[in-house]
Amino acid sequence: MMGKRNPQLDADGKLVHLLTLEGLPAETIVSILDTAAPFASIGEREVKKVPLMRGKAVFNLFFESSTRTRTTFEIAAKRLSADVINLNIGASSTSKGESLLDTIDNLVAMNADMFVVRHGQSGAAHLIASHLQATGKPHVHVVNAGDGRHGHPTQGLLDLYTIRHYKRDFRALSVAIVGDVLHSRVARSLIHGLTTLGTPDVRVIGPKTLLPARVEGMGVSVHHDMREGIAGCDVVVMLRLQNERMKGALLPSSGEFFKHYGLTADKLARAKPDAIVMHPGPMNRGVEIDSPVADGERSVILPQVTFGIAVRMAVMSMIAGA
Ligand code: CP
Repeated sequence: MMGKRNPQLDADGKLVHLLTLEGLPAETIVSILDTAAPFASIGEREVKKVPLMRGKAVFNLFFESSTRTRTTFEIAAKRLSADVINLNIGASSTSKGESLLDTIDNLVAMNADMFVVRHGQSGAAHLIASHLQATGKPHVHVVNAGDGRHGHPTQGLLDLYTIRHYKRDFRALSVAIVGDVLHSRVARSLIHGLTTLGTPDVRVIGPKTLLPARVEGMGVSVHHDMREGIAGCDVVVMLRLQNERMKGALLPSSGEFFKHYGLTADKLARAKPDAIVMHPGPMNRGVEIDSPVADGERSVILPQVTFGIAVRMAVMSMIAGA
């Protein structure tokens, strides 16, 4: 019996959309990371441009706020020489009741080549990709820039790129992901990426109320005691407390959360001496991470942002067939 085809890959296995890291073959993930590596040096050149997407129209559709993802997608597209159109959602016709798919149809009528989409609804990017397929526009590509709690695949990829940059071999690593895993699309994407690449020890750490039910099914171990959970790990990934996604009180207070799950120098001392500290941003100092750790020598939080440009260049250029 034929298996269900991955909607992100064409019949030849070529990446045509990036919707999720779940189910993406390891070789595709490695190929994206390998493609990103030479792009990383373009930012250091005097002329920070290559012509790989010259003449392509990339539409940034951010229905939720963003600093890092929206800006680095724009920089990445411009470095690939694409034309970038940032739709001002607040001033667009979606605020007059136009549906998401009607907006997409209108932008396709303006000859869009690629949509980069952030949306509060899980599955929004999948919905657009299916709609483009159903309406005979399979040549228009979709990149998920974060959908609800579901996934943030380019963040997952830039996290993987950062880990590989500093630690080389996924198959010898212990990675601890700490905090609000329940609401985190970043955590979900990173867990899928790490397990696909063979990371033997992925741990999630947090209070019961902020860990998804049956998260062990994703191939991770669960810890509620942070000191015990980060002991001996190579990588500590801190997550933001996503108060905007919380329904009801899942925590006594942010002060109480910091006491038990905030990353301090004292707790970090339990990890390996050369462990790196990551955070996808936006970061809440004094809530999930202490300032001296966020700004300390083991923090790679700002390099993550820089690597994000190269990774997004790789994703867009591969999808566009450049
Ligand atoms: N990491 C991340 O998605 O940050 P932004 O919300 O600023 O894009």
